Amino acid sequence: MSLKAKIEIEGKVLEYPITEGSEHEKAIDISKLRADTGCITIDHGFLNTGSCASAITFLDGELGILRYRGYPIEQLAEQSSFLEVAFLLNWGKLPSKSELDSFEKKVASFSKLPEYIERMIDIFPKTAHPMAVASAVTVSLSAHYPELNNPNPSTEQKDEIFALMLGLFKLVAARSFTAASSQAPIASNPSLSYCEDFISMMGMKSNKDVAKALDVLLILHADHEQNCSTSTVRVVGSSNASIFASISAGIDALWGPLHGGANQEVLEMLEEIKLAGGDYKKALERAKDKNDTFKLMGFGHRVYKNFDPRAKIIKKACDVILAQLGVKDQLLDIAKGLEQEALADDYFKSRNLYPNVDFYSGIIYRALGIPTNMFTVMFALGRMPGWLAQWKEMRETKETKISRPRQVYIGSVVREYVDIGKR
Ligand code: CMC
Repeated sequence: MSLKAKIEIEGKVLEYPITEGSEHEKAIDISKLRADTGCITIDHGFLNTGSCASAITFLDGELGILRYRGYPIEQLAEQSSFLEVAFLLNWGKLPSKSELDSFEKKVASFSKLPEYIERMIDIFPKTAHPMAVASAVTVSLSAHYPELNNPNPSTEQKDEIFALMLGLFKLVAARSFTAASSQAPIASNPSLSYCEDFISMMGMKSNKDVAKALDVLLILHADHEQNCSTSTVRVVGSSNASIFASISAGIDALWGPLHGGANQEVLEMLEEIKLAGGDYKKALERAKDKNDTFKLMGFGHRVYKNFDPRAKIIKKACDVILAQLGVKDQLLDIAKGLEQEALADDYFKSRNLYPNVDFYSGIIYRALGIPTNMFTVMFALGRMPGWLAQWKEMRETKETKISRPRQVYIGSVVREYVDIGKR
C-alpha cells in the first residue's frame, strides 16, 4: 500500500505521496505543494530536507551506521584500499583484480601537473592556507582541460575526470605543502601505491604502517552522503558549471571549521589547552557557556546522535599507529581526558554530543608528520571520490534541476523612492 501524508491548510486537506528508500527511510514528496497551496516549506540548515535520491552512501545517525554502496565502513576500513573504495563509490561495485589494477595505473599516470599550475602553486605567499591554494588550483584546471568542462560528458570523459582528479589532486596537495615550506618539489613515483606516493611527495618517510594508516583515514573520509561540501558540489554542478568549478566550491565549503576545517581546529584547541597547563575542564566550561562562542571542536554532528562510526575506528587506529611509530603525544592524553569528561557531562549527554571523525584524525596526521594546516587538505584528498561520484550521479539523474531554493521574505514592503536631496 502506498503511504500518503495529509496536509491541512486553511481547511483544505491535501495528500502527498511518501516515497521510501531501500533502508525504509521515508520522505514526503512536496514538489507540488506550492502549486497546490501557495505555501513553501522552511527548514533552516536543511535538517529535514532531502535534496536528492542517491544510491551511493547510507548512514543512520541514530544507530551509528555508515555504508558505501551497501558495504559497512568497518569492513572497508579493515580490508579494502582507498582506490578500491573510490572505484566502488564511482561505479557502484567492487572491482575485479584486473579492473583495480588498471584503475590504479590510470590514476598513477597523472603524475605531473601542467607546468603553469605548478608555477601558480609556487607563487602563492608561503602563508597562504593550502585549502585556498587547493581550491584556486582545482578551478584553474578547467583551463587545461576545456573539453572536460562540458556538464554532460561522455562515459569515457567521466571515467577520465574521475581518475584525473584523484591523480592530480594528490599532486596539488603535496606541491602546495612543499612550496609553502620552501622545500624542493618531489616528483611523483607512479610505481608506488597512492598513499606511499603522497607521503614521498610530502618529503616524509614512509613505511607500510604509515601508508596503511593514511589509507584508512582516506577511506573513512571518502563519502558522507549530502554533507555541506557534497551538497555544494551538487548545487554548483546543477547550474551546469564545470566539474572543476563544482569541486573547487566543494573544497571551499569543506574548509569551514564547522565542517572539514574542524580537524585543524581540534588540534589547535588541544595545543591551546596544553599551553595553558593541560586543564581541559576549563575548555569544557567554555564550550557550555552560551555567552561564549567557543565550541568543543571535534564534538557533535548533524546526523550522528549516538556515535560516529568513523570516530570509533579512528580512535582505535590512533592508539595502534602511535604505538607502531613509538610516538608519545601529550595531546592524545588531553584528548582522551576531554572526551571522557565530556561524555560524562550532562550538557553533552543531553544534546547527544559525541566525538566525531575529526576529533582523533588530527592526532594521527600529526604522528605521521603532516603539518596542522594540511589537515583539511587531507580531508579533501579523502573526500574527492565521494564528491566526484555524487557529481556524476547528479548529472546522470534525469530529475536534476538547477538548485534554487525559495525564501520567506521579511524585509520592507513596497515604498516610494525619495530623492537624495529630500532625505
Ligand atoms: N560544543 C559545544 N556545544 C555544542 C557543540 C560543540 N561542539 N556542538 C553542538 N553544540 C550544542 C549547540 O550549541 C546546541 O545547543 P542548544 O540546543 O543549547 O542551542 C546543540 O548542541 C545542538 O547543536 P547544533 O549546533 O544545533 O547542531 P547542528 O547539527 O546544527 O551542528 C555541528 C552540528 C557539527 C556543526 C556542531 O555540532 C559543531 O559545531 N561541532 C563542532 C565542529 C565540528 O567538530 N565539526 C565537524 C563535524 S564532523 C566532520 C564533517 O563531517 O563535517
